[in-house]
Amino acid sequence: MNTQSDRVSVGIGLRRGSLMREIEATQPELDFLEVAPENWMRLGGAVKRQFEALLSRYPLYLHGLSLSVGGPAPLDRDFVHALKKFINQYQPVIYSEHLSFCSDNAHLYDLMPIPFTRAAVRHVVERIHAVQDVLGQRLTLENVSYYTAPDAEMNELDFLTEILQQADCDLLLDVNNVYVNSVNHHYDPKAFLDTLPVERVRYLHVAGHLQLASDLIVDTHGAAVADPVWDLLAHTYGRFGAVPTLLERDFDIPPLADLMLEIKKIRSVADDALGLAPRNDREPVMVANA
Ligand SMILES: [Fe+2]
Repeated sequence: MNTQSDRVSVGIGLRRGSLMREIEATQPELDFLEVAPENWMRLGGAVKRQFEALLSRYPLYLHGLSLSVGGPAPLDRDFVHALKKFINQYQPVIYSEHLSFCSDNAHLYDLMPIPFTRAAVRHVVERIHAVQDVLGQRLTLENVSYYTAPDAEMNELDFLTEILQQADCDLLLDVNNVYVNSVNHHYDPKAFLDTLPVERVRYLHVAGHLQLASDLIVDTHGAAVADPVWDLLAHTYGRFGAVPTLLERDFDIPPLADLMLEIKKIRSVADDALGLAPRNDREPVMVANA
């Protein structure tokens, strides 16, 4: 029988500004905070102290933006070493990145999909090994959304599973991205999930999107999670278990209270899918600072 420890951990992304102030003031019932290391690595002074105060309350997850693991430019080894220092200092539960590359200027953080080719698999696998060697840990890479797949020699699923296998790395499964890609590229998202290797899925993202037409969705992270994605999330917990889950919201960020309602829904979808009793003892309400 499942126990309390089988319950899913749920977090949100920490951003400087009003969201950070709301989290500091209300100490919401979150299981972790996710940050992009690039945005916090060079901080000092008061912001660093605020960051560290939050880390005394919440476990840290890192989700990087600029590793460019699939990119054509040489790996930025100075960046990887700086990242290692940051990881050693703050001991995140997970460091994850995108299975993509940054276009022209890495600092724009414009994430581009990698072409689904055998040459790209070899290239990415070699770079993942190089990064894992420096960091001394496995990488956890995220399936990204894509809108065209020029010169593809394989489909998205084969590309992803080849890389996981050959690089011996883990997967950050973005459930919204699976749904968005399944609509835009006409495949069955549940069949896609059912083919992924269970043991590689370490972390989940769930987000909102913008539906422009019946067969065209844009992955915006700027809206509440849509109904078909909730359904797919339930299926995901059924297959992969209580994998830690981030509610991803990057644009049009609502007040924290609204995000907490979605956090509550993630917990309830997970509990239902995992056959756990509803929670009475741990309402995700905000508690005022003592
Ligand atoms: Fe994501």
